[in-house]
Amino acid sequence: MKIVLMEEGHVPQIAELEKLCFSEPWSEKSVASELQNPLSLWLVALDGDVVAGYIGSQTVLDETDMMNVAVHPDYRRQGVARMLVGSLMDALIQRGSHRLTLEVRASNEPARSLYETLGFSQVGLRKNYYRAPREDALILQIGF
Ligand SMILES: CC(C)(COP(=O)(O)OP(=O)(O)OC[C@H]1O[C@@H](n2cnc3c(N)ncnc32)[C@H](O)[C@@H]1OP(=O)(O)O)[C@@H](O)C(=O)NCCC(=O)NCCS
Repeated sequence: MKIVLMEEGHVPQIAELEKLCFSEPWSEKSVASELQNPLSLWLVALDGDVVAGYIGSQTVLDETDMMNVAVHPDYRRQGVARMLVGSLMDALIQRGSHRLTLEVRASNEPARSLYETLGFSQVGLRKNYYRAPREDALILQIGF
């Protein structure tokens, strides 16, 4: 497994994973548009040519928002998400960003558990932030 910067060739597989993993997936077009956004940094975990997982972020000034992370069901519980978040932090340090914030569904136990083991703390709550189904978002943050 290797972690690389997202390239155009990864976009169709990422869009498929979005559909598989989220009730309100990003379209292929919106994922592709991130390649043109100088504020965005997306990383991909590759097993050969297969996209096993990915992570997307945007940095404004020195604050980074993690917009999504997902791992294909066949590759879960093998440390891929942990590796993606760690690699993102390393890359952000290079870019002068030392704080990462994200939203997570209150009921998303796997993701909450991942962020807890990585050392994120809850800094807020957004009531009814998500649709399909409607649900609160916890706002988590880590400094590094
Ligand atoms: C959440 C998700 C990204 C985790 O990916 P992953 O590659 O399986 O996670 P890792 O193997 O790196 O797990 C690291 C740690 O997170 C925790 N964790 C991950 N999945 C878990 C699960 N299903 N149940 C409990 N804890 C879990 C564990 O502490 C795990 O360490 P361990 O395996 O040594 O016990 C993956 O389940 C996923 O893609 N879910 C759907 C998309 C999603 O919800 N994304 C998050 C949006 S905020």
